[in-house]
Amino acid sequence: MSAHFLFRLLTMTSLVWLLLACAKTTAVATIETTPWPHGAMISAANPHAVTTGIDMFKRGGNAIDAAIAAHLVLGLVEPQSSGLGGGGFLMHYDRATSKTLFLDGRETAPAGATVDMFMTDDGVMGYIEAWVSGKAVGTPGTVALYWEAHQQAGRLPLAVLFEPALALATEGFVVSPRLAGYLPMMAERGRLATNPGSRDYFYPNGKPIESGDLLKNPEYAATLQAIASHGPSAFYTGDIAADIVNAAAQAPNAGSLMLKDLADYRVKIRPIICGVYRKYNICTTTPPSSGAAQIMIPNLYDQMPRAPESPQDHIARFVDAQRLAYADRDHFFGDPDEVSIPLDLLLSTDYLKQRALDRFSPDEAVSHGDVWQFKNAAATPRWAPDTTDEMAGTTHLSIIDLDGNAVSLTATVEGPFGSQRWVRGFVLNNEMTDFAKAVSEDGRALANAVAPNRRPRSSMSHTMVFDENQALVLVTGSPGGNSIPAYVAKSIIGIFDWGLTPQAVVGHPNIIARGDTIRVEVGRGEGKAIAEGLESYGYKVRRREGENSGLHIIQVTSEGLQGAADPRREGVVEALPASQTCVAQLL
Ligand code: GLY
Repeated sequence: MSAHFLFRLLTMTSLVWLLLACAKTTAVATIETTPWPHGAMISAANPHAVTTGIDMFKRGGNAIDAAIAAHLVLGLVEPQSSGLGGGGFLMHYDRATSKTLFLDGRETAPAGATVDMFMTDDGVMGYIEAWVSGKAVGTPGTVALYWEAHQQAGRLPLAVLFEPALALATEGFVVSPRLAGYLPMMAERGRLATNPGSRDYFYPNGKPIESGDLLKNPEYAATLQAIASHGPSAFYTGDIAADIVNAAAQAPNAGSLMLKDLADYRVKIRPIICGVYRKYNICTTTPPSSGAAQIMIPNLYDQMPRAPESPQDHIARFVDAQRLAYADRDHFFGDPDEVSIPLDLLLSTDYLKQRALDRFSPDEAVSHGDVWQFKNAAATPRWAPDTTDEMAGTTHLSIIDLDGNAVSLTATVEGPFGSQRWVRGFVLNNEMTDFAKAVSEDGRALANAVAPNRRPRSSMSHTMVFDENQALVLVTGSPGGNSIPAYVAKSIIGIFDWGLTPQAVVGHPNIIARGDTIRVEVGRGEGKAIAEGLESYGYKVRRREGENSGLHIIQVTSEGLQGAADPRREGVVEALPASQTCVAQLL
């Protein structure tokens, strides 16, 4: 059979399948639920990814299909943030059943990882040294996450979801300013321009590719083709797996990743946690993500004692709510399969009321809450302090489909371009640096310590908000390393307390209050006035011209969907009206 004939056959089969899928969608929507009147929307970090998501809707796909197809494109056009060599978490809402699902595709420590693997004779390994090390590479979770998400709720055939990224990798895409902008700096500070593979791809002829260049990635296309044809085993076993192991084993600071680590990788299905906030229900992902902070921060913000308030008082309360939540997150959170986390207690009304009274004065160091005064926390360990830093190589997609189902997906390779180690068209993550790299001086364990087969704590915070009728009203999330909880909480408090629209809340200056210094984004809007106001209250403020948030939000209003993409990155938001059904598109 010729390749051309085979292609035509596959295309015709897909078409028939798609028509059936479209018919099925219409039936489900009309018989089993009130029809969703708002159409579909996707907000993500790159226009190619957004167009791909919309294209999947037009072809009969749902939110899961759009998320996978769009993220496969992001792995190509935004390799600094996420991709096949990384991991991520996906939160899904199925409108017909009102069920939410949390898939944990987090990178996992190799079986050979040790608690002190980032320690040297001179103390903890330096920031860049750890970032580009082979030790930083965890077992990637992205491909298994695609597979599990598709098995759980995908509608189009998996191979269809790979088509747009395959075509773009083969035919080429126009390099964006943000991707090109990283490359001179990465050549100076990292190993992207020296490591085999990444050197030739990003620096052909010794010069970084530039914004506007057409870039093809045939290696990525071949990798995608292998996974599309043979499933995730093509990635987790065989030649691709062998190349991943080999790249992690290279100097400097070779890692211990083995073929068995890859073969043993599994996505975990974890609980979603919901907490009441005013008339809303905030639902979010459990550890190892930091989603729980999205229930803590708005509730602490509301619980704090207050006199009649000025706008600056609102900001001060937001700052203090963050400081308390971050201190608890930093102390208690880790891999829930490995450490005992008193999550129900931390999110209980009794605890949050009590914790809000801890409001520290601006010049005091904030410590974690006293959970042990509550009866049901007796077994909670007392950990050593942890101030783990994280870099900002992550991406976020918010999606609502034509049936009102939603996805909040945050995916990462950790630092820009991960460990900068190249395998067949993609970079490997450096997610192991999300663990506490330093061991404590007094020998006490940390909740987020490195251990074999453990998943590092993440700041990623996927959130969906529902109203008093259990109707979806907000899908939100952001990249940004340790600042993610602050960025995402701004979107919730900004919309539900400050009355901002999604675009206004995304544009609002970011305020990050972890530890004793408050970062304020003074290069935007009222940023300077906010910084001065906080200083007048006695806070130690660090002024930042810009921040690295990538908030992608969709709000459901009575007038329809309102989306926003963060202007600090290259994202866009696009809608597909309800009337544009997939059948109409195909005909
Ligand atoms: N590596 C970013 C995060 O997981 O929060």
